[in-house]
Amino acid sequence: MRNKIAQLFGIDYPIIQAGMVWASGWKLASAVSNAGGLGLIGAGSMYPDVLREHIRQCRAATGRPFGVNIPLLYPDIAELIEIVVREGVRIVFTSAGNPRTWTAHLKERGITVVHVVSSSAFARKAEQAGCDAVVAEGFEAGGHNGREETTTFCLIPQVCASVSIPVIAAGGIATGRGMLAAMVLGASGVQMGSRFVASDEASSHIDFKKAVVAAGEGDTFLTLKQLTPVRLLSNEFFQQVRRAEAQGAGPEVLQALLGHGRAKKGMFEGDLREGELEIGQVAAQLQEILPAGEIVRRVWEEFREGLENPVDFS
Ligand SMILES: Cc1cc2nc3c(=O)[nH]c(=O)nc-3n(C[C@H](O)[C@H](O)[C@H](O)COP(=O)(O)O)c2cc1C
Repeated sequence: MRNKIAQLFGIDYPIIQAGMVWASGWKLASAVSNAGGLGLIGAGSMYPDVLREHIRQCRAATGRPFGVNIPLLYPDIAELIEIVVREGVRIVFTSAGNPRTWTAHLKERGITVVHVVSSSAFARKAEQAGCDAVVAEGFEAGGHNGREETTTFCLIPQVCASVSIPVIAAGGIATGRGMLAAMVLGASGVQMGSRFVASDEASSHIDFKKAVVAAGEGDTFLTLKQLTPVRLLSNEFFQQVRRAEAQGAGPEVLQALLGHGRAKKGMFEGDLREGELEIGQVAAQLQEILPAGEIVRRVWEEFREGLENPVDFS
C-alpha cells in the first residue's frame, strides 16, 4: 500500500510502532521494520550513549527504514538530537514539547520530522513548524496524554480538517479494523503503542506484558493531571495517587509521590505494585503476547479483510 505515509517513510504498510519508554529498543524497532512497518526506538528512557548503541544495533538488524522518538522535554535533548543527526537517522518523531524548537534544525539535515499532537491547534503549530506529518493521539492512548481529553474518534476528523500534511492516528488502535476505522476518518496511517508492548521483542518486563494482556475494560485511568496527564494501569501506586488527590494533594506532593524511576520500576523491572505502568485502554482487547512481525502481519491482514467486507449490512 504505497499511500502518502508509506511513501513518506519508504515502508510497505502505514503501520507505525510507537516509540515507548522502557519498551521500544532496537529489537522491537527492527522487528517491526523488517515486517514492513515503521519501527521507532524510544529515546525517552535512554541516556545518550544508550541511544547511540540502539541506533547502531537497529541498523545492523534491519536494512529497512526505522526512526527515533524523542520527547522534547528530555533534559539531554540537545545531545540526543546531535546523536540522531550524527548517526544518520532519517526519521524522527518528536513529542511532548514545542515543535518549533528542533524541527527546522532536523529538516535542514534532511531528516523527516513528525510531531505528536493531541489537538487541532497543536497540529497547526506542527505544520507551521515544518513537520512532514503529525501523529494525532487520542485520550485512549497509553502513556502521556493531552490535556484536552479528546478521543481518537473525535480528534482524527478535526485534525484532518485543520492541516494539509498527512495525519497518523494513535490511541486505541490495535487491530486491522481499528486501523481501517481510523483511515476512513481521514488518517493516512496508524501508530500503535499498547499492542506492541505485548510483543516478544518489547523490552518491557514479562510480568508487565502479562498484566497488559490480563487487563480488562476500565482497568486504565488518566491520572496525575496536575503534573503531566498519563494513562496508567490501576495498581497500588495508582491508588496512592488517587488517595492523595482525594485529600487535596497539589503538584509538589504528587511529584514527591511519583519520585524518580517509577516508570522503570514498573514497566522494566516488573514491580507491578509500586511501579508506574503506562498502557492504553485498548489493552482490554489484547489477548496474547506475539512476535512483533506477526502483529504487523495480522493487523495488515485484518485491514485487508475489513476493506473487502467493511460493515455488517444485516
Ligand atoms: C508503555 C508506553 C510508553 C510510551 N512512551 C512514549 C514515549 O516515550 N514517547 C511518546 O511520544 N509516546 C509514548 N507513548 C505513547 C505512544 O507513543 C503511542 O502514541 C500510544 O501508545 C498510542 O496509543 P495506544 O497505546 O492506544 O496504542 C507510550 C505509550 C506506552 C503504552
